[in-house]
Amino acid sequence: MTIDEARKRITELSETIDNHNYKYYVLAQPSISDYDFDMLMNELIALEKEFPELALPTSPTQRVGGDLTKEFPTVKHRYPMLSLANSYNRDEIIDFIKRIEKTIEEPVEFVCELKFDGVSISLTYEKGILVRAVTRGDGTQGDEVTNNIKTIHSVPLKLRGNYPEFLEMRGEVIMPHDSFNKINAERDELGMSLFANCRNAAAGTIKLQDPKETARRRLDNFCYYMMMDNVPYSTHYQSLMAAKEWGFNISPHMKVCRNIDEIEDFINYWDEKRRNLPFDIDGIVIKVNSFAQREQLGITAKSPRWAIAYKFKAEQVSTKLLSVDFQVGRHGTITPVANLEPVFLAGTTVKRATLNNADFIRQLDLHYDDIVKVEKGGEIIPKIIEVDLEKRKNDSKPVEFITKCPECGTVLTQKEGETAWYCPNSMGCPPQIKGRIEHFISRKAMNIESLGEGKVEVIFDNHLINNYADLYDLTYDQLYGLEKVETFVDESSLFPETVTRKVSFKEKTVNNILNSLIKSREVPFARVLYALGIREIGETTAKILANEMGNIDNIINASLEELTAINTIGPTIAQSIRDFFDDERNIHIINRLKVAGLQFSQEKKATSSENQILAGKTIVVSGVFANFSRDGIKQLIEDLGGKNASSISSKTDFVVAGEKMGPEKKKKAETLGVKIIDETEFLNIINNPVISSET
Ligand code: IVH
Repeated sequence: MTIDEARKRITELSETIDNHNYKYYVLAQPSISDYDFDMLMNELIALEKEFPELALPTSPTQRVGGDLTKEFPTVKHRYPMLSLANSYNRDEIIDFIKRIEKTIEEPVEFVCELKFDGVSISLTYEKGILVRAVTRGDGTQGDEVTNNIKTIHSVPLKLRGNYPEFLEMRGEVIMPHDSFNKINAERDELGMSLFANCRNAAAGTIKLQDPKETARRRLDNFCYYMMMDNVPYSTHYQSLMAAKEWGFNISPHMKVCRNIDEIEDFINYWDEKRRNLPFDIDGIVIKVNSFAQREQLGITAKSPRWAIAYKFKAEQVSTKLLSVDFQVGRHGTITPVANLEPVFLAGTTVKRATLNNADFIRQLDLHYDDIVKVEKGGEIIPKIIEVDLEKRKNDSKPVEFITKCPECGTVLTQKEGETAWYCPNSMGCPPQIKGRIEHFISRKAMNIESLGEGKVEVIFDNHLINNYADLYDLTYDQLYGLEKVETFVDESSLFPETVTRKVSFKEKTVNNILNSLIKSREVPFARVLYALGIREIGETTAKILANEMGNIDNIINASLEELTAINTIGPTIAQSIRDFFDDERNIHIINRLKVAGLQFSQEKKATSSENQILAGKTIVVSGVFANFSRDGIKQLIEDLGGKNASSISSKTDFVVAGEKMGPEKKKKAETLGVKIIDETEFLNIINNPVISSET
């Protein structure tokens, strides 16, 4: 084939495949078989391989995923990505409508849409070409994940028809149930942790460094919001219809409603029918249709006044309790987990539910073979809500909490005032040892990524490590040739399939591990302290401790009194620090880490802002914020002289509550009389010294 012929054929194939993609993924009207589609795709792949210089920048072959992404650059949003206010019942929607009617005199039309339960994304098109896909992040800036988004077939790489010069579309990346179930089945097989729900799986998948793996996991996308300086349509509905023509996947389940009854009908219909959808929705979004009216209504600090989300109640289902497993965490805490007769709930098959602790089992009065009601809220693991006592068999046995560790046989103990049971054999119990090492290497601790994905387990099972200091004694010869089970996609087949195989640690893997261990010597003291895995010491407390005490020896030698003198460190945390350093074995491990060259001291941090408006204040943040990420708001509090605490106590000055503040936290703050302020009040305080001195 000559180069001109190849160019012609590549253009032709790219266009044909694009058209078929649009028909299949957007119009849901495929006009060729999967086999014929694969044939066209294979022909294009082969041609692009032979003539790489001819491959179009928007080629559909990009959907199989390109090179690895090292890091996702942070990109500022051209228009901030706001969130939505939530409502839970008819009255709250009536209030929303009434508020609108105070500003708008003429009739108002609403568009009701599905609230997709995924991850929001902003897609930027210049001259019709997808140039950037950015996550919501903190609303002001997010991560650029373009290469991963390009693998989603329903996201157009190139627009069709009469599109504008510049366009930003907002939408949701979702993981359909099919993809979710397939991936979790694979992970289960491999003993890997399962994705808790489709939303988490989608969030994890768009941040993968390997776009090929993202492609394999088959995400989907719906768009629901057009952003431009001057949208050339007068209503939202019209704008989405135009977006559909340009190639975007727009949900057909949208309805223009004119009053609360029509809105309520839409809600009730989908509350029932959502069970038949192939993906998760967690509610309905109600939006003012007219752009002129939206303009009049404006936005608040967090969300537009022209839209509201209605959240569905958690779905419940009944099933049978088959057995109970007792899992051992890295601190030795025993968590009972119920094995259930598999049941379909909110889009996924539920097989397990957490039972929290011994008290929870007692309160439920749980017996084996009981019929239990399971609920899956927005939260990850399903919960058992109640037992159907009428269906209990006479001879069924009550679930008894174990008395010995299921992993190492040690007699369990309980700490005073705590409900949890522990295995005290911290240095000899395998899941505790592995859990501590896994925590040590994790991203927010020592960030030794090349040791992830089950490699720690392999090294431990081969008796090469028994604590995290042993990592630094590992040698090339010890690691080379170790074997690990892995999955991969067999691309050689016409219908790629996931295959499981054993792979051994090769030269590259071993060198990566050894290099990242060497690199970890640069990790700052606060993170090393966090990595040690001292009970009760999270990232924030580790930062405070490192900053206040300066080096490890000061902490090792600090008395309980000295520790509790540090703001935010209460008696429980102080005792836990002492317990850790009073154990000679930990001191021995730390001494070995010192020899390995890890950072065990830091300069006292100069405060980074002259404005110390929050000096002396202990603040708890809870929930999700419109203007900040969680880490961002905590950093700001520290920069302004405040202290972050993870739990509310009488020492807390105030709680900054975002959306979805935990109900337990709310109750505790109210009981202790701790003031709760919202994000807008917080912004007022930090920008206005007079108000803050009164808080
Ligand atoms: S409109 C200005 N429409 O829900 C608000 N959002 O809690 C623009 N979501 O961040 C969002 N389905 O990720 C809109 N049909 C829909 C949606 C939707 C899901 C998500 C979105 C947003 C969150 C708000």
